[in-house]
Amino acid sequence: MNIALLGYGVVGGGVYEMLKDHPEITVRYVLDRERHEELGERGITDYSVALSDPEVDTVVELIGGLEPAFQYVKDAMAAGKNVVTANKYLLAMHYDELLTLAKEKKVSFRTSAAVGGSIPWLPNLERAKRTGLINEVGGIMNGTTNYILDSMTRNGYSFESVLADAQRLGYAEADPSADIDGLDVKRKCLISANVAFDMSLSEEQLPVFGIRTVTAEDIACFKEHGYVCKLYATALRLPEGEYSAFVEPTLFPAGSLEASVPANYNLISYLSEYAGRQSYYGEGAGRYPTANAVVEDLIDIKEGYKPFYSKEWAPTPINNVEVKHRYYVRYLVDTWFMDGVVEERWENGMITKAITPAEMHYWYNEAKQNDPDIFFAALRA
Ligand code: HSE
Repeated sequence: MNIALLGYGVVGGGVYEMLKDHPEITVRYVLDRERHEELGERGITDYSVALSDPEVDTVVELIGGLEPAFQYVKDAMAAGKNVVTANKYLLAMHYDELLTLAKEKKVSFRTSAAVGGSIPWLPNLERAKRTGLINEVGGIMNGTTNYILDSMTRNGYSFESVLADAQRLGYAEADPSADIDGLDVKRKCLISANVAFDMSLSEEQLPVFGIRTVTAEDIACFKEHGYVCKLYATALRLPEGEYSAFVEPTLFPAGSLEASVPANYNLISYLSEYAGRQSYYGEGAGRYPTANAVVEDLIDIKEGYKPFYSKEWAPTPINNVEVKHRYYVRYLVDTWFMDGVVEERWENGMITKAITPAEMHYWYNEAKQNDPDIFFAALRA
């Protein structure tokens, strides 16, 4: 197997190092903007060198972002080369086009590192859905925000002070707003739902609220009431062939499995018709955990043709007006909506009666214009 590695950053560098122990996989080229002495002849700055080399059978895209990654991946597939990528943004934005092209060209297309870092989540979801329906997927899917929330909960630190640590440890995206505003989780939730339910969602269909505005006082208040806050993704099969999907901070009882997930770890679950709930736990971010998932994909492909985890995909509407939760909401400016739904008062915020995610996110998007520091979190009993 001869590969071209696109990107020599945190994960790309990790893959390169790991492959030194896998002589059956030859790194023929490493594409980067800069030249690196240690790469010698392998280092290239012009992608066409790798693309036009018929010996390269597999392209590993670890540049991140949409362009030029999208063009590079399409060019690789069009040239009949297999593709492995960790790029959830690219996959979420161009799901149909990439799956269609990979299928047409009959090339392997694996993206295990895109969801869950080290966790073999997508390959197991692919296996699980063969035996019966998957009725739910979701969980803690972002290492950076889990690291931040865990550190705030354990140590009482402020949001700002722990974000810098997460960046230093190599967990955060290049632009950490993708982590803290929940966009990274939204993309992972979308990809998981697409694979689980054989559908094709677009980003706009999933309401998302992140943790940018959470304060040390919020966290202390949750502790006082026996809860731990996690950024949580949910995608559910509803009766009548409908689906619900949303991403929001969620309060879990202290001592629950979710509440116990530390540092950069993820906990991702599916609910299977016959197997019940299956949960996967592991490091969700970081150089070697993520590189490991990429190398596993490469070894899988080396063993034979590996199409994407779903053979079908179709646009599907989302219905977020069926499930209901109570919510913690901290806000400054009173509105008619909150006046009508508040049921209980905690030290630092209000608790609503059970309302739908559609109502909560709609209210937030209106109210934040006048009240930008609002924080809310769903309560799971
Ligand atoms: N920034 C991501 C995270 C990296 O923190 O989970 C892994 O996708």
